[in-house]
Amino acid sequence: MTLALILSLLNAAVAIFCMGHTPQVYDSCIKVNDIALTFDDGSNFEISNALLTAYKGPWIHLRNISDQFTIAGGRATFFLNGKNFDCIYNSDRISDVKYAYAAGHMIGSHTWSHSDLTSLTTPQIQDAMFRMEEALVRILGVMPAFMRPHPFGDYNSNIQSIAASRGQSLALWDWDTGDADGNTTAESEAVYNDVADAQLKNALILGA
Ligand SMILES: *[C@@H]1O[C@H](CO)[C@@H](O)[C@H](O)[C@H]1NC(C)=O
Ligand SMILES: *[C@@H]1O[C@H](CO)[C@@H](O)[C@H](O)[C@H]1NC(C)=O
Repeated sequence: MTLALILSLLNAAVAIFCMGHTPQVYDSCIKVNDIALTFDDGSNFEISNALLTAYKGPWIHLRNISDQFTIAGGRATFFLNGKNFDCIYNSDRISDVKYAYAAGHMIGSHTWSHSDLTSLTTPQIQDAMFRMEEALVRILGVMPAFMRPHPFGDYNSNIQSIAASRGQSLALWDWDTGDADGNTTAESEAVYNDVADAQLKNALILGA
């Protein structure tokens, strides 16, 4: 199933949770009829463990996912790392990030290098957030309003308050395609179909 078809099935609304907000933790959308599709690490739900060996890095799909959403009249949310599989300052990555942002998609922070935030000291967490903010300011001229913690969306009150002090809400999810846990493309698609069939009030989906 193409992303465009999934989007039309979902009758997807704009993936904006809330702007100009007081920082907090979102584990679901707040508006009725909003379906937010979110992608971490610049990743794509076509990536599964089976493909991992052939994998050139998740960032390579950013432009294509951006295009699929643009064609479908929707907007995606990308939580980007600065240095994980690739470095955001490489020229191709800069150009892809600018491209997706210019197309109207939402760009959030997934911190600099995808370290386990719960294992870091306060200065290390601040550094991981700062480097990503610096990259988005340098590349896009904007500060992120949302940070998606990792791994597995794990966070604690310290991480939450550090994010809040930097003006960022934590963005979690209420549906998970399981892509990051090794689900196949078909299994991930089944989750999107379940969301579509369930006729929910709204959904905040971790696509990858
Ligand atoms: C992106 O889309 C183009 C055009 O459809 C295709 O040729 C290319 O292989 C795609 N890239 C990736 C990484 O999927
Ligand atoms: C993986 O896919 C299955 C089948 O679509 C789904 O039930 C499950 O929630 C998905 N996620 C994980 C983390 O396994």
